[in-house]
Amino acid sequence: MQEKIRLSGVYKIFGDQPRGRALDLAKAGVPKDEVQARTGHVVGLTDVNFTVREGEIFVVMGLSGSGKSTAIRTVNQLHTVTDGEVLVDGEDVQAMSGSKLQSFRREKMGMVFQHFALFPHRSVIDNVAYGLKIQGVGTMERDRAALKALDMVGLVRYAGSKPGELSGGMQQRVGLARALASDPDILLMDEAFSALDPLIRRQMQDEMMAIQAELHKTILFITHDLNEALRMGDRVCIMKDGAVVQVGTPEEILTEPATGYVAEFVQDVDQGRVIQVEEIMIDPMPLRADSTLREGLQHLGDRAGAFVVDADGKPISVLTTGDGIRVSGMGSNDLADALRTDFERCGPGHTLNEVYAAAGRGIPIAVVDEDGRLIGNLDPRAIMQEMGRVESLIDGFEREVFM
Ligand SMILES: Nc1ncnc2c1ncn2[C@@H]1O[C@H](COP(=O)(O)OP(=O)(O)O)[C@@H](O)[C@H]1O
Ligand SMILES: [Mg+2]
Repeated sequence: MQEKIRLSGVYKIFGDQPRGRALDLAKAGVPKDEVQARTGHVVGLTDVNFTVREGEIFVVMGLSGSGKSTAIRTVNQLHTVTDGEVLVDGEDVQAMSGSKLQSFRREKMGMVFQHFALFPHRSVIDNVAYGLKIQGVGTMERDRAALKALDMVGLVRYAGSKPGELSGGMQQRVGLARALASDPDILLMDEAFSALDPLIRRQMQDEMMAIQAELHKTILFITHDLNEALRMGDRVCIMKDGAVVQVGTPEEILTEPATGYVAEFVQDVDQGRVIQVEEIMIDPMPLRADSTLREGLQHLGDRAGAFVVDADGKPISVLTTGDGIRVSGMGSNDLADALRTDFERCGPGHTLNEVYAAAGRGIPIAVVDEDGRLIGNLDPRAIMQEMGRVESLIDGFEREVFM
């Protein structure tokens, strides 16, 4: 696989005299906080080395302040580097300036950030097409490209809307469409999903991976969330105090943590412990009590079940696919014949481990708020799937570390 981005021996020092004593100390391996205490300069990056291969999702993960944003910004020269080299397609980014740098940024890179401000008074399609407009692309062509990008993120219907009319998740999709519109080789995504609610965030991760499976971009993706990193990354780079601690596949990070720091991080990654119900529950879409059984089954679609709620919105019974088909097969079209009331309830903040046993019964779990009102439907299959997906990784990790 071809190398797309390379950082070699990159240092970034913030302060009045970045190339002075602070750099010497950093190069001598003096830790960031000590350099700061002795020189008043902040070490943003210290001897950072990694390569991003063409077509991969390369995730940089670390706590706040570890240097992730600084690193990604060296790739499009939003930051100059104090020392070292940044190459994109073999070209020295630091050497670029003027119109060459401009066209390099516009044509080769798409950027999506956490708070990627859309222009509030422009329509969605104009926001998406904006970069192309600046590049001098004609109206017809840029609208075609913008619609194609909007189609990829499922927002064609909103092309004429204003950003303010869209939810946060949808606005972030517009940001992604804007980055995709000019069909860049490289996507730089800095905490692009970090501000979203867990449920929306997971959907965005899934969509992003689906888009990637189609487009094969090179993606440099930044997050402070290890779960997101392991889920999205072909390879993951863990940073701490401006330095790279480890680069590896998610499996390698979990099973062969390079340092105690990484090991500490990944101990928390038992997803059953970490993942909350609200991240995998689906819209409750309650079932009307006056439906026929056939209507009820249609309403279910491919869901495992749907709840009937009372006048307060509290779940009182559930129709499962299995019950519906069985009762229908006995010749009844009466919904009441198929409803059951022996379902479990949980809150959105429960972890998957806590609801795992309940899921074993194969009946959807009603997710309720503090007042007992239905706010989500938890499909037992989704729990099994989510836990199963990481099981092998965790098994491997526990074998290596705890035995
Ligand atoms: N413009 C700047 N001036 C001074 N210090 C900065 C600047 N940008 C970042 N830093 C410092 O560099 C370090 C890395 O920051 P950053 O790359 O933003 O971390 P992350 O994105 O991982 O949260 C932090 O200590 C931060 O305070
Ligand atoms: Mg940052």
